[in-house]
Amino acid sequence: MRGVYRVLLIFIFACCIRAKKTRWCTVSDPEQRKCAELAKALVAVLPPATLAAFARLSCIRASSTGECIARIKANRADIVTVDAGEVYSAVKQFDLVAVAKEIYSDGGCILSVAVVTNSSLDIRSLRGLRSCHSGVRWTAGWSLPLSFLLSRNYLSWSKEHPLSQDISTFFNASCIPGAAAMAPPLCALCQGQKSFILQKNYHCETSHNEPFYNNQGALKCLRSGTGDVAFVDHLALENIEEAERDKFRLLCTDGTQAPLSRYRSCNLGRGPGGGMVTRHNFRKVVRKFVMTIQLMFGRQGRQRQRFQLFNSSPFGETDLLFKDVVDKLVVLSDNIDISQVLGLDYVALLKGLGHEGSSLEDSVVRWCCISHAEQKKCEQWALSIKSDPLVCVRAVSMRDCIEKIKRDEVDAVSLDATHSFIAGKCGLVPVVTEYYGKKCAPADGSAHLETDVLPSVVGIAVAKRSSKNVFMGNLGGRRSCHSHTYSPAGWLLPHRHVLSLEHNSSSPCDPNQVYNEVFWKGCLPGSEGNLCKVCVGGTGEAATKRCTDNHNERYYGNMGALRCLVGDPIGKSYGDVAFLEQYNLQANILSLNSTGWAEGWTVSDFELLCGDGSRAPLSEWESCNLGVIPPNTIMTRPVLTARVYDFLMKSQETLAASPNTEFKIFESHQYGESDLLFKDATECLVHTSHMDYRTILGEEFYTHVETVFNCTHSDILEFCNQDVCSIF
Ligand SMILES: *[C@@H]1O[C@H](CO)[C@@H](O)[C@H](O)[C@H]1NC(C)=O
Ligand SMILES: *[C@@H]1O[C@H](CO)[C@@H](O)[C@H](O)[C@H]1NC(C)=O
Ligand SMILES: *[C@@H]1O[C@H](CO)[C@@H](O)[C@H](O)[C@H]1NC(C)=O
Ligand SMILES: *[C@@H]1O[C@H](CO)[C@@H](O)[C@H](O)[C@H]1NC(C)=O
Ligand SMILES: *[C@@H]1O[C@H](CO)[C@@H](O)[C@H](O)[C@H]1NC(C)=O
Repeated sequence: MRGVYRVLLIFIFACCIRAKKTRWCTVSDPEQRKCAELAKALVAVLPPATLAAFARLSCIRASSTGECIARIKANRADIVTVDAGEVYSAVKQFDLVAVAKEIYSDGGCILSVAVVTNSSLDIRSLRGLRSCHSGVRWTAGWSLPLSFLLSRNYLSWSKEHPLSQDISTFFNASCIPGAAAMAPPLCALCQGQKSFILQKNYHCETSHNEPFYNNQGALKCLRSGTGDVAFVDHLALENIEEAERDKFRLLCTDGTQAPLSRYRSCNLGRGPGGGMVTRHNFRKVVRKFVMTIQLMFGRQGRQRQRFQLFNSSPFGETDLLFKDVVDKLVVLSDNIDISQVLGLDYVALLKGLGHEGSSLEDSVVRWCCISHAEQKKCEQWALSIKSDPLVCVRAVSMRDCIEKIKRDEVDAVSLDATHSFIAGKCGLVPVVTEYYGKKCAPADGSAHLETDVLPSVVGIAVAKRSSKNVFMGNLGGRRSCHSHTYSPAGWLLPHRHVLSLEHNSSSPCDPNQVYNEVFWKGCLPGSEGNLCKVCVGGTGEAATKRCTDNHNERYYGNMGALRCLVGDPIGKSYGDVAFLEQYNLQANILSLNSTGWAEGWTVSDFELLCGDGSRAPLSEWESCNLGVIPPNTIMTRPVLTARVYDFLMKSQETLAASPNTEFKIFESHQYGESDLLFKDATECLVHTSHMDYRTILGEEFYTHVETVFNCTHSDILEFCNQDVCSIF
């Protein structure tokens, strides 16, 4: 019996020590050597009990990072550090977990840069050139540059086949390590050893045995003249010797070139840095292991004279086990979601690039609708266009649309100027801008209007002609009607003017606070407290409690603010002044009667309140208004720009080709509302995806909105600012 026990004990002991051993997956001989040194150093510095518990390290040599991920999944290795793009695949396709993230001296993120040596190259004309990339599906070497090229339409993706095929015809030849299975031209420039024996084939593999692998490899590919352009991350630029720096230039998004030191302003986008992955059941061990090696051999490690975790030079390579520029590792908590680790923008980008394989969703455009009326109009729109599938997704406010676009639950929406500012701060980009001019047919006979002159609208304050004592400067203690929260005319502009004796230039700069102090009560949909008391909510199919930030609240928008001014049929909820946009006021006044809201009102029953305290008839809006408002812009995630643009242009064409259809995309009165999905003033949509949202808004308006949000709390801006790059 004793003998049996002893054997059993030895067996248990042996099994469990082995189980606690951490197996690190490496992709080259130098990396294997560095790993082996780390294992030795651990044995030398740690007490046996700690070692036995979790810190015994063995090194498993594989031929690529992809093989490492497969081995970890199969329980034949435990950890590996990989690019964020591979972290995503490991989590989504192999069911592994991210346990730690690399942090660099300037944060947890990397910038993608395009490096060249030829001074006549330009980011706008990369077609037909030879390209070098750090790795396939890597953040800086693949996802960010492709997203940029797609968003500018320099590269087109037909969606009938994987993106890799379009890239293989876009560049003349490339070296994109890891792309061997995708298309031969993507590997044509690579120089690793070729072999039919899998373990000996390094050609185009994600292994240091492929000379052009990783950031330094891609730079080597460029340096040797094999490629014309290298896509790498900004951290790789640090390794370029001083003497050599003048030879290299960065390609900027505006078509210019810049010296290497200018990567902060001259780059193709920002994304998360690398991370470590393991299996679910092993993450506790790995966490302890990572904390221990960092404590011992990290930048401030107690035993860093013996071994340096973030230095690969003794092994004759760069970036072994980790990037050499890592400052520290952060260990991730158990329940953290992958979109928190990598960021919403990045996860949406990878989905957009088809990292999970293509799906039916790829050809559908999901439009954001905020109310029952918008949903009805959107469904009519979807039925009226022939080929392109349009799906109408419901949100509760424009802010919610921005959040849903970021979360990849919806694709596009038309936003007023203030919301365009917010969306721009959130990383969304313009596709087209609403055009309010007279002539939309371009002079040259081409199908779509291209112009840099974007007509604006104006914000006004309106009172009933009969309320003689109401004027700007005398609004204290009155009832107000505002189109909605953050709307340019209803929220942003009025507070800049003298509203009451007390509200003058020394007043607070947060509009919400100003309106709360000046007005007795009012209806500002989307706010709270006294500024909701005049709101009336919705009925029937659009039933809602009062003050919601969409057309279900009958006092929402330009139409709603007018309804609010004239008051509800029982005469209880009304305002003394309404802040709204001018362009559809006359039509809205007429529709008060036709929709049965209120009878008998005509244009002459209302007057404008001018900024100087005078009053004027509605026709004098050009001289009597509260300010100019840039047009609405349709915004989306960067990777979708071309698809949303195509969709809108085709939709515009089909609707123009059949002018007798019931459906009118820029009209809303048949739904009993105004400005559904687009402003009613829109004549057509102008291509603006080559422009920055700041340029579309104009410097003066942009600065005004920025000033206001610098002193106004906004949940949506706060949501957008929780960027992984700032958290980690
Ligand atoms: C630089 O690029 C231009 C444009 O592609 C090309 O005509 C020229 O030959 C290149 N110069 C060198 C030295 O490669
Ligand atoms: C593209 O590659 C072909 C051969 O593969 C070569 O003949 C051609 O000159 C290349 N074009 C450019 C622009 O480098
Ligand atoms: C501005 O408002 C403050 C109080 O809010 C008041 O004390 C001051 O007299 C006002 N100034 C003018 C010029 O009206
Ligand atoms: C108001 O609407 C009613 C019924 O729709 C119509 O008979 C009447 O002429 C309208 N009044 C005005 C002033 O348009
Ligand atoms: C708003 O605040 C940011 C950050 O503090 C600052 O950089 C910017 O200049 C401010 N903008 C305005 C218009 O005050």
